[in-house]
Amino acid sequence: MRKVSFGRSKKIIFLVVAVGISGLSLFLFLYLSRFTLMPSSEKYVAFCDTDKTCHVKDLPYQNSTLPIEMRVDDLLLRMTTAEKIGQMALIEKNSILNQEDIAKYGLGAILSGAGAKPEPNTAEAWFQMIHAFQGYAKKTRLSIPIFYGVDANHGNGNVLGSTIFPHQIGLGATKNPSLVRDVAKATAEEVSAIGINWIFSPDLDVVQDIRWGRTYETFGSDPTIAGILGKAYIEGLQSYKQDGAKVSATAKHYIGNGSATWGSSSNKDFYIDQGDAKLSDAELRRTQLAPFTQAIKADVRSIMVGLNKWNGAKVIFNTYLLTDILRGELGFNGFVVSDWYGVYENEDNNYQALVQAINAGVDMVMLPFDYKTFSSRMHRALTNDDISQARVDEAVRRILTAKFKTGLFEVVPMDHLVEINTTKNRELARKAVRMSLVLLKNNKTVPISKYKSKIYVAGSSADNIGMQSGAWTIEWQGIDGNWIPGTTILNGIRNKVSSSTKVEFSLQADFAESSGLADVGIAVVGEHPYAEGWGDVENPQLSSEDLETIAKLNRVSKKIVVVIVSGRPLDIKEYVKDWDAVIAAWLPGSEGQGVADVLFGDYPFMGTLPVAWSL
Ligand code: GLC
Repeated sequence: MRKVSFGRSKKIIFLVVAVGISGLSLFLFLYLSRFTLMPSSEKYVAFCDTDKTCHVKDLPYQNSTLPIEMRVDDLLLRMTTAEKIGQMALIEKNSILNQEDIAKYGLGAILSGAGAKPEPNTAEAWFQMIHAFQGYAKKTRLSIPIFYGVDANHGNGNVLGSTIFPHQIGLGATKNPSLVRDVAKATAEEVSAIGINWIFSPDLDVVQDIRWGRTYETFGSDPTIAGILGKAYIEGLQSYKQDGAKVSATAKHYIGNGSATWGSSSNKDFYIDQGDAKLSDAELRRTQLAPFTQAIKADVRSIMVGLNKWNGAKVIFNTYLLTDILRGELGFNGFVVSDWYGVYENEDNNYQALVQAINAGVDMVMLPFDYKTFSSRMHRALTNDDISQARVDEAVRRILTAKFKTGLFEVVPMDHLVEINTTKNRELARKAVRMSLVLLKNNKTVPISKYKSKIYVAGSSADNIGMQSGAWTIEWQGIDGNWIPGTTILNGIRNKVSSSTKVEFSLQADFAESSGLADVGIAVVGEHPYAEGWGDVENPQLSSEDLETIAKLNRVSKKIVVVIVSGRPLDIKEYVKDWDAVIAAWLPGSEGQGVADVLFGDYPFMGTLPVAWSL
């Protein structure tokens, strides 16, 4: 056997060792790279909690110092198809059959539909409920937090104890973007306090027919003003930050609801809501698109598609509107969410409807009920290539981008509740009420002296915070009575006048004529709360009871002032000649004191009509 020289043997040993080391390093690199380069493997885990749920940590997408785009790229690469589909589902909280499903299906977003509250309806109970939902989301493999969305369209109206601001129509009467920005910021404070991180406001529909039950949810009939106020609202809301938590806005309802024609509703119970906007492209752009253009400039994080049609076809299936205009022309980089059950409404083939809506540009589907069927349909659509993987990735990218912008991964779990209904917020709401009042008529009657000897007050909305708040307050269709915190318009009057002034209240103006005339009679009347199509009405007007009350009050008062609490102009042409002063108060919310502030001259009338009101 040939003796191998020592010199040569050294080389062989070195070679063997070198090969061994590089082999080992290659193995280690490949093994460890499973925790960094990330193929989308279902079995991937990095570490496990005591409860045997395994998570990832210290990964690029969890690093808040990295650019959002890089975090999204990293996270998207790690996601399985099932996890991506889960992010596209928006579920109503009462439709979650088992909270473990939040983790099992990787659900990306949950909402409280109007009135869907925990029992008891307290800020603490809301906080605990949402915290629990987030806990299930955190248990998922990639711990992607959920969006929790609500309709906080005049303050956090669902939650008992919140400050209730004027509905948008009243803010529209102020035409004051700075005030609207402040109201939005205060709203963000009160929703964020209980863990809500997404609200379905502002409503940027531009109302053209006040018979529409959603008139009061809009800023009025002027697209330019709606754009200015909508932009301010979005900036105010999305600029708020507390313990890392921020709130995302939703510009809704894209597009054309405000221009629907009477009698065209696709809902048999309604007349114009969810109707058909029969407009040319140019008309649609002129009357309805402007506010959404402004919203996109304000970096609105989501846009909700309406349940309406444009020239006979459902907007939700319209690629030209949802993709060509929103993305191509306006550069919208947030996500598009469908409205309540809107994908499936009045459809025969729900699978086909889902495919159409997603391909048209819907990124997240407000199902809001059946996430299991949604998941199986989406898997089927991907398998059949009815929906491409690229389209799903694009939708999820937009949703994740919004989540990162909202700081969801950086939220510091609060161990305390941020106070709601603060004095600061109530004072702001009162200021908004003052600035929203519009003086429609005045025969030298207002402002009223605080030193009158006798004032009569009457009417359905005088002593009723539910009436003055309107719908989307505690319940979808609103409430009746005084069981939420705030000040009635009647108490605002009582608080304002001198100690020598006698204020008497009778709901239907049952004042004895023998007691002599009041110096002034104030009738506070208006509409009972309604939401959506339930407010569609052929001729908006005062009730016969209210008209009777005003007439009775007029007979026992030297002067009569009528304060109208309504979501829109009412037809008073036949009666206004008999009244000395008329004030539009819209739906002022919980801080009714703001009405007396102006009625008795501490502040001037500043509001102007957000929609035409012919007297
Ligand atoms: C609705 C409304 C929409 C609201 C959504 C969630 O039906 O059309 O404005 O944001 O449901 O409550």
